Amino acid sequence: PTGHLVDTRGRPLRDLRISVTDRCNFRCSYCMPKEVFDKDYPYLPHSALLSFEEITRLARLFLAHGVRKIRLTGGEPLLRKNLEALVAQLAALRTVDGTAPDLTLTTNGSLLVRKARALKEAGLNRVTVSLDGLDDTVFRRMNDVDFPVADVLAGIEAAHAAGLSQIKVNMVVKRGTNDHEILPMARHFRGTGTTLRFIEYMDVGATNGWRMDEVLPSAELIARLRAHLPLVPLDPASPGETAERWGYADASGRHDPALGEIGVISSVTQAFCHDCNRARLSTEGQLYLCLFATQGHDLRSLLRGGASDEAIASAIAPIWQQRGDRYSELRSSLPADTAPGPRRVEMSYIGG
Ligand code: GTP
Ligand code: 5AD
Ligand code: SF4
Ligand code: SF4
Repeated sequence: PTGHLVDTRGRPLRDLRISVTDRCNFRCSYCMPKEVFDKDYPYLPHSALLSFEEITRLARLFLAHGVRKIRLTGGEPLLRKNLEALVAQLAALRTVDGTAPDLTLTTNGSLLVRKARALKEAGLNRVTVSLDGLDDTVFRRMNDVDFPVADVLAGIEAAHAAGLSQIKVNMVVKRGTNDHEILPMARHFRGTGTTLRFIEYMDVGATNGWRMDEVLPSAELIARLRAHLPLVPLDPASPGETAERWGYADASGRHDPALGEIGVISSVTQAFCHDCNRARLSTEGQLYLCLFATQGHDLRSLLRGGASDEAIASAIAPIWQQRGDRYSELRSSLPADTAPGPRRVEMSYIGG
């Protein structure tokens, strides 16, 4: 079976995000707070994880269903041993159009100095690095393991030097914690070819103690930046994009490509579910159709139960076709600080 699947809201399946580990060497409070993710936390045993062969097999079947972009996430994906071997297997796959998939990775950057070159050689196209501030004290506090900012900046440099293109930096903004880092971050990356994107702090998972008053709405963030750096709105680069793009302007008020652009990802104040084309494969092979889902669809038991490619592909199709998820859209119609419903999965497990 090949071709294109659409869900109940007419949204195609285009983007597969694969979590390769539920572990991370950081303890960002918005994602894996220390008090919960301590030494007694029940991480998945190695046998529960999909093997590289299992991941590649599923990826091949998803590509046949119309997927074009594959993102490796976690947890911290570079903690998975020999990840470049998986990258090489995935890079050899093809979309239904016969082209190579857009193969990318989200990382905290801590291991990039060591890994960038091997990843590029294995066929990785691009990389997105999470970085929540430039001030060393603020950054060490946010990663909560005292990791120095200089090492992440060196990782970004290493990615550039290895020839990874279109590098993006993702900054989760928490009002009162790192919002004073917005302008220094923008100034730092302006004109470097690296695209900085600001993410509204989300109520994902069940452990981060999310509160609406810690969200800095993107509209306010853009207004703050524009008081110092001229910005002009840009058109979306592709349908279903998470980020709204803004270009740095020159003296005449036109976008100056040499200065580059920024993005804002506003899932709290401006939901983008209407064209969400993303599926997520958890570390142990559960298929999730929304970041805020409470339940997945078990694909690992099919893999390990001896199902044929045809059987697995036919199992995936109706799961997507019956999809109706649009959590962020519904969230914004609820009063602020509404108590969460059933227990949601953690982002480190399902994949950012
Ligand atoms: P590009 O391919 O580079 O555009 O990346 P992307 O925007 O698809 O993925 P990225 O991993 O850079 O996503 C950035 C952040 O946006 C994630 O870490 C999440 O915080 C958020 N995000 C991504 N996808 C979704 C989604 O489907 N729903 C919501 N609510 N947030 C998302
Ligand atoms: N809100 C917004 N983004 C989050 N991430 C993790 N937790 C949250 C949250 N609560 C995203 C960040 C980080 C990536 C790995 O996951 O973008 O860079
Ligand atoms: Fe680790 Fe990224 Fe989560 Fe921070 S946001 S704890 S770096 S997975
Ligand atoms: Fe997609 Fe769910 Fe995010 Fe909406 S909340 S954009 S449906 S993953």
